[in-house]
Amino acid sequence: MSGFGTRAVHAGLTPDPSYRSVIPAIHQTSTYAQDAPGEFMDDYDYSRSANPTRFALEQALGELEGGKAVSFASGLAAEHALFSVVAHSGGHVVLPRDLYGGTFRLIDKVFSRWGLRYTLVDQTDTAALARAIEPDTKLIWVETPTNPRLEVVDIKAVVELSNHALVAVDNTFATPVNQQPLDLGADFSVHSTTKYLGGHSDVVGGAVITRDPDWYEQLRFVQNSIGAVPGPFDCFLTHRGIRTLHLRMGAHAASAQAVVQLLNDTPAATNVRWPGFSGMVSFQHPDAVAIVKATKLFTLAESLGGVESLIELPQAMTHQSVEDSDAAVPADLVRLSCGIEDPADLVADLAQALRTA
Ligand SMILES: Cc1ncc(COP(=O)(O)O)c(C=O)c1O
Repeated sequence: MSGFGTRAVHAGLTPDPSYRSVIPAIHQTSTYAQDAPGEFMDDYDYSRSANPTRFALEQALGELEGGKAVSFASGLAAEHALFSVVAHSGGHVVLPRDLYGGTFRLIDKVFSRWGLRYTLVDQTDTAALARAIEPDTKLIWVETPTNPRLEVVDIKAVVELSNHALVAVDNTFATPVNQQPLDLGADFSVHSTTKYLGGHSDVVGGAVITRDPDWYEQLRFVQNSIGAVPGPFDCFLTHRGIRTLHLRMGAHAASAQAVVQLLNDTPAATNVRWPGFSGMVSFQHPDAVAIVKATKLFTLAESLGGVESLIELPQAMTHQSVEDSDAAVPADLVRLSCGIEDPADLVADLAQALRTA
């Protein structure tokens, strides 16, 4: 099989049948002409059900992780579809104790109304994880590295102890460059493509990837039945982002490494975390609020994974929905998404913010 960079550049690129365009056309259409009732090309009768620009993106996402992908209007829409497919009323899921706030809200506030139960557990503690699995556990939802504390979970170990439960991995922070959940035995890999895959902070999207043909068909069914599909232009942008993913991830990591060196030399910064890949860094600092207000290159904003650097305070911004739960995050925690600017400039910016604070 070709190297990852080659696959990233070519994934999902088949010359368009109409004019042989090398790059997939943006098929901005809601519907398709039929020759006779029910006679249409391939699956293309209506764009919620199928769209060629979306199909090209799904091909690309599938190729990068060795499975078949179903794409959605956002990462949370992808999660909603997956939980709808695998779980049922009265069933149970295991969630990580550190996780994206929106994922917790989806289960705790939406699916719980339909009778889905959950347990939060530190998934780096395999004994605790094994204890959390119940006879009715349908899914172990793994996030690794976790958002925002960047804990790294051993996917293989989770799969080994999963027993009858399915395993889904939120691969948003690692990306397929650094982690291939399906190769490690997970049943599903899930993405907020809004982040590193899109890579330019200009599109919201999500995807679920699986190797199992039955789960794939069920996900496609729910994609069409619930209808949280991405638009053609969004699919085009995400697909374009994927073609430089491997280069960007290397640059993100170089930025993060330089920033971590500065933080490690800053006594007031504690719990400095970086998984050793990607651009995500977190740390705690008594002057967290002043720091996030003082950076100039790092923009104070939610989200992550774009080429430009962002800084945020999870407790006050992305993780408000875990407040007062066992997944609550400390108020002095800062999360950085290190972009692909010159690392020296990022270090200088953070250093001046640390001095100002
Ligand atoms: C790890 C993780 N998973 C899922 C999501 C949800 O994705 P979206 O915002 O595209 O719905 C996010 C969003 O920040 C995230 O950080």
